[in-house]
This record gives sequence, structure tokens and C-alpha cells, in this order.
Amino acid sequence: MSKGIQFWLDLWQQGRIPFHRSEVHPDLINFWPELQLKPKSTVLVPLCGKSIDMLWLVQQTYQVIGIELSEHAVVQFFQEQQLAFTVELHQQFKKYITDSLCIWVGDIFTLDKALIPAVDAIYDRAALIALPQKLRSVYTTLCFNWLKPQGFIFLKTLNYNQSLMQGPPYSVSPEEVTQLYALQATPHCLHSRKQEHAINENNTMVVDESIWNIIKHEAKTKS
Ligand SMILES: C[S@@+](CC[C@H](N)C(=O)[O-])C[C@H]1O[C@@H](n2cnc3c(N)ncnc32)[C@H](O)[C@@H]1O
Repeated sequence: MSKGIQFWLDLWQQGRIPFHRSEVHPDLINFWPELQLKPKSTVLVPLCGKSIDMLWLVQQTYQVIGIELSEHAVVQFFQEQQLAFTVELHQQFKKYITDSLCIWVGDIFTLDKALIPAVDAIYDRAALIALPQKLRSVYTTLCFNWLKPQGFIFLKTLNYNQSLMQGPPYSVSPEEVTQLYALQATPHCLHSRKQEHAINENNTMVVDESIWNIIKHEAKTKS
């Protein structure tokens, strides 16, 4: 097992999950509606943890598909939200299922791509920025493979001096966002702001937070 995978499994096992929020993320509530996704669309939430943002998306009528490495996180999600669920096994991957929502357990990089249907939108909060640089372009390629043409990715990034903090969360600059997404999509920055961020227990620093709407280009038609 890679060090990266073990790192996240250990965090969940030890309950060290400062990224988890007990309330729906205000940026989701404030910025998602302006993207005007059609009711009953399908939304993929990669690296979903036990985020209750998924329940907010379900409340907006969407079908939600999560992908999460840690089964511990997935079980906690269903228990804490008091949701009845069933579990299916597809190849070596478990799928936890409840009304309008399912979560695949496993490493997104080894999950059989065909298990996830084409989706209308992707909600990326603390997913891209949880990955080291060498994995980010592999991750964005996966996302584009699952995203329908003209679908969008709602992405949140942090930009800061990486030498001051090790990450995750990693710094992803606007230039890197362009580099990662611009070949297949048009990234629009919806909002940017400065925010205090804890480096460790005693220190904070100011980081640039950005919210992006990344709209995938239409499929090219053969001439
Ligand atoms: C920073 S957390 C964010 C969780 C969630 N998006 C949220 O907003 O609370 C990153 C999550 O990605 C999961 N993760 C990390 N690497 C993964 C991988 N290769 N495949 C699937 N999940 C992964 C971790 O277990 C962790 O729950």
C-alpha cells in the first residue's frame, strides 16, 4: 500500500479529520445555485470523506455518487446521518447505497472506470488540493472521463507559499488550474478571497481561496 493511501486511512482510523465540517459548506449554498444544474442531474463527489454537502446536493434533487478511500469514513457517514443502506460488491469494490446517493469505497485511481456512469457535474471540495502534484493531472483526466460534455466541475482551491506548509491541503495556483483543465474545459473563477488558515496548532497564515466553475467543452463532431 502506498504511503499516500496509508496516510488517509490512518487519519480516519485515528479520527484526525480537521477538514470535515459538521455543517454544509456555505460556498456550496451560496455559489452552486448560480450554475443552474437541471433537477435530477447526477453529481459526482470524488474523495468525498463523510461530507454532509452530499446530503445538501440530494436535497436539491440530484443523484449523488461519492468515491472515498476509507470505509471507516463511509460507515461513519451512514451511521451519523442515520441512513439505512445496502452494500453491493462489484469486483473488489464495495458500493454503499441509499436513496439518491451511493458511495464507492476504494482508491479512485484503481476503481474500474466503467463502474461510474457519465455525470452532469462534479463537486470538488478538498479533493484536488488533497492530492500531491504528481497525481493531479491523472485525477483531472479521470474526472473529465466521467464528466459529460458541457458538464461542469465546481472546484475550490487554495493558493499559498508551499514552503510555509507541507500540505495537504496543497497549494494549487490559478496557473496550475488553467494548466490542468484548460485543454478540455473553460475555467471561470467565480470568487476569490483571502482567508486565515491554520499551519499548525500555534500559527496561521493568509491563503488565497478560489471557487471555480470549470465547464467541459462540447464533444467534437467528426467532419
Ligand atoms: C481533505 S479530505 C476531503 C473530504 C471531503 N471532500 C470533505 O470536503 O470533507 C480528502 C479525502 O480524500 C480521501 N482520499 C484520499 N486519497 C484518495 C484516493 N486515492 N481515492 C479515494 N479517496 C481518497 C481521503 O480519505 C479523505 O477522506
